[in-house]
Amino acid sequence: MDTMTPPDGVARRRAKRVANAAGVARIAASPQVPLLLMMSRRLITPVYRAAFLVAASSSGLLRLLDHRPCDADSLAGKMEIRDVRLLRLWLDAGVRLGVLDQRFDGCYKPGSRAAKMLAKVRHDAAAAALEEVLRYHVPALLNAPSMLREGRRFSLADQDGTVIARSTQVVTPLVHEAITHSVPRTGPVRLLEIGCGSGVHVRHAASLNPHLTALAVDLQAEVAKQCAENIEDWGLADRVEVTQGDLRTLDLEPQFDLVTMHNNIYYFAEDERVEALRRARELLTPGGRLLVTTACQGGHLSLDMLNLWLECADFGGPLPKERELLEQLREAGFADASAAKIVPGEEFRAFSGTNTDLAQQD
Ligand SMILES: C[S@@+](CC[C@H](N)C(=O)[O-])C[C@H]1O[C@@H](n2cnc3c(N)ncnc32)[C@H](O)[C@@H]1O
Repeated sequence: MDTMTPPDGVARRRAKRVANAAGVARIAASPQVPLLLMMSRRLITPVYRAAFLVAASSSGLLRLLDHRPCDADSLAGKMEIRDVRLLRLWLDAGVRLGVLDQRFDGCYKPGSRAAKMLAKVRHDAAAAALEEVLRYHVPALLNAPSMLREGRRFSLADQDGTVIARSTQVVTPLVHEAITHSVPRTGPVRLLEIGCGSGVHVRHAASLNPHLTALAVDLQAEVAKQCAENIEDWGLADRVEVTQGDLRTLDLEPQFDLVTMHNNIYYFAEDERVEALRRARELLTPGGRLLVTTACQGGHLSLDMLNLWLECADFGGPLPKERELLEQLREAGFADASAAKIVPGEEFRAFSGTNTDLAQQD
């Protein structure tokens, strides 16, 4: 330790001041000072804090520190980072933002309440949701004018499907409520889940009926791979098959008692939805049911931002409007299409319909 250099505060006290009292008053009266102070407190610092939280969570730092406070040297080893000096600089930024704390022995630990909570596995969906906001919603807000001017669009490849599969789990309680009302509790049930994400919804359906077997399909290969690993870890591999595939081109016989589509109807453009729903109906046995759960337009602010991202993308379309999706279900051949609110105050709906097409029977 360098004992010759005075600590920062002492150095500052001894430094000669250029401005006298009148000069300080002139600087403080500058019209941009109050604006800069307000921006720093209310806009800039929260953005920095959110960015640090996302990086600390997605890099695994928060979990490591929640397990055991560590200094920069041992963190560098655990995080496979060679440049300890830069790592320390980044960690110190986290301390300055109040996200991390540094103990007397130099070890870092989660500091803010948000950091302590996001460090926990049970808050993984919230951590992924914050990551979705910074990685996708913020760029949509920032880039929309230039993208519109230049005719550029986001694509599916711009999205990390595994982050989305985790962040979508913030609405899992709502989806599970709808599934609970749709899965018969006895007898064999054959389920097809389209856009299965992490697989948590198939797991819930399987927990309701021990004779349920399922085919879980996802368009994105890395998402299907992660889902298959989860299904294996949950001990469901003998009942649930996972495959990468696209609803629009699935080559399957009509064999399913229940087809589910959770949080993915907006991955289909508005003018493709009837065809996608018809395709889902054609995979149902006569009397089989379709369950579509989705956020609709007009809900929470973050849904407007998701809507903006989707509108700026070269696939999919806006979040549905209840009346329009009901009409599309009818056009797809579901005569008894209905929509149900799951909880008051949320624009989240469970749409369902029965395949009454007896022509498929044989
Ligand atoms: C927002 S995620 C939702 C994941 C999961 N259903 C959930 O609720 O947690 C939407 C998923 O649908 C998948 N998907 C989109 N279009 C699809 C299609 N045509 N066929 C199969 N899966 C599709 C995407 O790859 C993505 O993983």
